[in-house]
Amino acid sequence: MSLLVEPSGDACGARVTGLDLSRPITDELAAEIRSIWLEHKVLAFPRQPMDDDALEAFTQAMGGFGHDPFFAPIEGREHVAAILREADEQSPLFAENWHSDWSFLERPPAGTCLLAIDIPPSGGDTLFADQAAAFAALPEERQDYLRTLTAIHSAKLAYAPEGTYGERDVGRSMAIKTDGSARATQPHPLVQRHPETGVECLYSTLGYIVGIEGMAQAEAFALLSELAQWQARDEFVYRHKWEPDMLVMWDNRSVLHKATGGYEGHRRELHRTTIAAWQG
Ligand code: SIN
Repeated sequence: MSLLVEPSGDACGARVTGLDLSRPITDELAAEIRSIWLEHKVLAFPRQPMDDDALEAFTQAMGGFGHDPFFAPIEGREHVAAILREADEQSPLFAENWHSDWSFLERPPAGTCLLAIDIPPSGGDTLFADQAAAFAALPEERQDYLRTLTAIHSAKLAYAPEGTYGERDVGRSMAIKTDGSARATQPHPLVQRHPETGVECLYSTLGYIVGIEGMAQAEAFALLSELAQWQARDEFVYRHKWEPDMLVMWDNRSVLHKATGGYEGHRRELHRTTIAAWQG
């Protein structure tokens, strides 16, 4: 099969055509897609009228299912969650902050897949920020310093009962699960060598990072805030525009992502799976 790969022209992202993802994915095709994915970090597959069986089969072929601790799956599925906003919904937008999915787990997911189910006529773009490019563009001295730091990750600001999606979050149509286990912490190096490409990337950001080991909270927050501005500079960002029947997969180890609004009065639904941490 010959795939056509069209890079976005931004720091990351490419559009891939010349394949039919509703058909079984051979090992050869899976390896080709994974290799294009590692290079471009975010892949968009337009015109793929897939159902949830095909989405699950694709996720399996890309590395198997990751664990989704704070989403309830859609009915009849174990691994598919709905990113959903009803047309009249008033709750704050879901995932409007830069993040790397579930970075607070001991073994966070390698990637995430999102399949367009119901796409508004405009708005609802997803932004991606290339963290290999963000790290590479830092002065050498700064890189050396950041390499020495270990970040403390936690889901508490988002998913603990007192968090953004906790007990006070009413009227949301997404099936988010809140629970006290979100207060757990997990250390990860602030700069991680990508396990498959070997390229160093800034890993995750404020929101899921709640401190830095051995650093006073105020100092850590100042550093993380300054770094967060850098991580999301325009030159590192690809703005993804959704189309009906489009599948997107991104690499959580090398990009941050965030949702955007601008589709008030319209319904938006995407089906999401996570790709398990790489086994090596
Ligand atoms: C997500 O962070 O999983 C959702 C992104 C989006 O809704 O665009």
